[in-house]
Amino acid sequence: MFEHVDAYPGDPILTLNENFQKDPRQDKINLSIGIYFDDDGRLPVMKAVREAEASMLNDLGPKPYLPMSGFAPYRDVVQALVFGEQCAARAEKRIATVQTLGGSGALKVGADFLKRYFPQAQVWVSDPTWENHRFIFERAGFTVNTYPYYDDATGGLRFDAMLAAIDALAPRSIVVLHACCHNPTGVDLSNAQWEQLIDVLQKRELLPFVDIAYQGFGSNLDDDAFAVRELTRRGVPMLVANSFSKNFSLYGERCGGLSVLCQSAEEADRVLGQMTSAVRSNYSNPPTHGAKIVTKVLTTPALNQMWRDELAAMCRRIADMRVAIHDRLSAHLSGEALSRYIKQRGMFTYTGLDAEQVDRLREQYGVYILRSGRMCVAGLNERNVAPVAEAIAHVLA
Ligand code: LMR
Repeated sequence: MFEHVDAYPGDPILTLNENFQKDPRQDKINLSIGIYFDDDGRLPVMKAVREAEASMLNDLGPKPYLPMSGFAPYRDVVQALVFGEQCAARAEKRIATVQTLGGSGALKVGADFLKRYFPQAQVWVSDPTWENHRFIFERAGFTVNTYPYYDDATGGLRFDAMLAAIDALAPRSIVVLHACCHNPTGVDLSNAQWEQLIDVLQKRELLPFVDIAYQGFGSNLDDDAFAVRELTRRGVPMLVANSFSKNFSLYGERCGGLSVLCQSAEEADRVLGQMTSAVRSNYSNPPTHGAKIVTKVLTTPALNQMWRDELAAMCRRIADMRVAIHDRLSAHLSGEALSRYIKQRGMFTYTGLDAEQVDRLREQYGVYILRSGRMCVAGLNERNVAPVAEAIAHVLA
């Protein structure tokens, strides 16, 4: 029956992470998956999350299905955090939001919704992008193309080429954008560049699908949402996929959201209905626990502040680790190949190491980074940064 089923070669990120777990070496170092580890190399449970969970234990009750669209107070906090407390479109009920299974779930529900209502459209992703963008949109039936993004020569952005490519797209093309902390390169647009890009998106009547999975890891929660808020202020219809995996350290709870900015409350109501239908045909309704944690933290002023402080501290620690690895590599690298470690933002740095060098890092030194050369700097700490730098120096020699 299943003779024709071919073997799964594995996922470039998740399978590598699983292989790391199986690696028996004591001194192995995991800089592959986009997960924040603390300075002791542990996955943190944020204090605000722990306190929210402790208080939730007091009113554990029955566990009915959530509505297909998710837990209503959670959908509200998603909007407030991503679009801003004072967002006019939110007050006017022009944003349709559903709770989703993490950011990937949001992309999948959004892709299914788009395939139904924009069946002829094609999808455009940055070159490079997070591998799962392509998988999700292709599986939803779209042709996926790339627009220029990363400049390997400078470790920066090919902004003019990006803008020119997007300026040539057919109306209603779907343009996938990373709001902040670009995955995998760590290279973001400046606010001025976003303004120019939004001019083009508007002029060409393109449909942005903004992925904001790392809000809070670039500059801060508000500045990292600049693209979403500016698109909203300028009335550009769009989809937004957000995730609390990283900024709440709630990876396994699968807390995300999909929001669609519409032109009227009535339109948002219809769009919400069809997003809900896409949820139903994927997994019926989302799980409860993580959504309640996020809601509790964000609606309790003391926990909200505690969480913001903890997130800011995580962000500072990553910045410190960027400096630490930069300084240790300064004897072995120079110019852009070195400065990218501090210039790039968020959890990732695109090291410029090739696949063969990456394989040697892993096989000879137990240092795991992606074969694309992406390193998760959020996995560095005071103890492992020196061996990582030495291993890189060896493979470069
Ligand atoms: C990553 O890029 O490493 C993370 O977003 C985890 C994942 O699902 O790929």
